[in-house]
Amino acid sequence: FSAFLTDSFGRRHSYLRISLTEKCNLRCQYCMPEEGVKLTPRAQLLSTAEVLTLARLFVHEGVEKIRLTGGEPLIRPDVLDIIAELRKLKGLKTIAVTTNGMNLSRLLPGLKQAGLDLLNISLDSLVPAKFEFIVRRKGFHKVMEGIDKAIEMGYNPVKVNCVVMRGLNEDEVLDFVALTERKPLDVRFIEYMPFDGNKWNFKKMVSYQEMLDHIRQQWPNLEQMQGGETDTAKAFKVPGYKGQVGFITSMSDHFCGSCNRLRITADGNLKVCLFGNVEELLEIIGAAVGRKKKQHAGMFSISQMKNRPMILIGTKPTPTAPPPLLPSPHVRRHR
Ligand code: GTP
Ligand code: 5AD
Ligand code: SF4
Repeated sequence: FSAFLTDSFGRRHSYLRISLTEKCNLRCQYCMPEEGVKLTPRAQLLSTAEVLTLARLFVHEGVEKIRLTGGEPLIRPDVLDIIAELRKLKGLKTIAVTTNGMNLSRLLPGLKQAGLDLLNISLDSLVPAKFEFIVRRKGFHKVMEGIDKAIEMGYNPVKVNCVVMRGLNEDEVLDFVALTERKPLDVRFIEYMPFDGNKWNFKKMVSYQEMLDHIRQQWPNLEQMQGGETDTAKAFKVPGYKGQVGFITSMSDHFCGSCNRLRITADGNLKVCLFGNVEELLEIIGAAVGRKKKQHAGMFSISQMKNRPMILIGTKPTPTAPPPLLPSPHVRRHR
């Protein structure tokens, strides 16, 4: 593996997340303020050719998985061309997209044909009015249609990302688990993280432990699955159900130790950690990877730190580990 992409803690960065755009057709409350975020001038965003040049360089150095993120990557007009070109790169095993699902149903045939392997779709509520309150736009049925069509087209697993917020959708956790009985979904409950402008506060965050306790009251037989070493989610399954559930515990039990991700923002900066502020140009990628910190600074410091809104980083990356300020989870993640 390329020394270029290995940090001083031995972590090999074989997973690259590329943000294709800062723009989004939703305004999720946990992601950005109602008025949106100030966007980088168009001329400073990566062109199709630049995205592909960067991808080629990283794949040459050992990247095996690329996830396209945003903003909302599927609003970028050249997204199908980008995927088709990425597909030609020898050495790139997996091409994935994280989307809000609004344009998914329409684009799925093209995505499949271009060679997309994996889909993660955000869905924070199963109640249309609540979904629309959280994302501040209409479109619940479009997203559900996209999810069902992705399953029909053979995407497996289809991952569903659900950011759980107290007083908003925490009461739906059991309904999401129930959804996995008949649908082969991998529903991941995500602990609400602080970003600039998302009005995070500690009380609104529902911890993994709390969600797990709640689910176990209804499904005491919930089984923990063996996860991959670099997975962001701790995986569980109700025996006999088609799908599974998972928890992304960025706040209560970070997973920095096994982090293998790098991210390129839509304006061509490199971020080695979702919670870090390292932003450098391409020439110093090697130096930046070498300097990557062992873990992110922890719940308190990350909540107090200035961090650009997730949408400007690329909301389809993954994190690190703070000292557990919440009670330790029953089951530690497999590393
Ligand atoms: P796969 O493992 O490839 O399926 O992707 P993923 O789960 O990392 O990606 P996805 O885009 O679906 O992101 C899901 C959630 O993971 C995000 O909401 C973040 O909460 C979390 N996440 C992604 N990247 C990072 C990161 O670098 N640090 C932290 N702390 N969390 C991250
Ligand atoms: N906390 C946790 N997850 C978040 N996402 C966006 N903002 C936050 C936040 N503040 C999630 C979205 C999307 C994923 C890539 O990031 O739900 O599914
Ligand atoms: Fe858009 Fe994703 Fe942010 Fe929601 S979380 S506003 S879908 S970028």
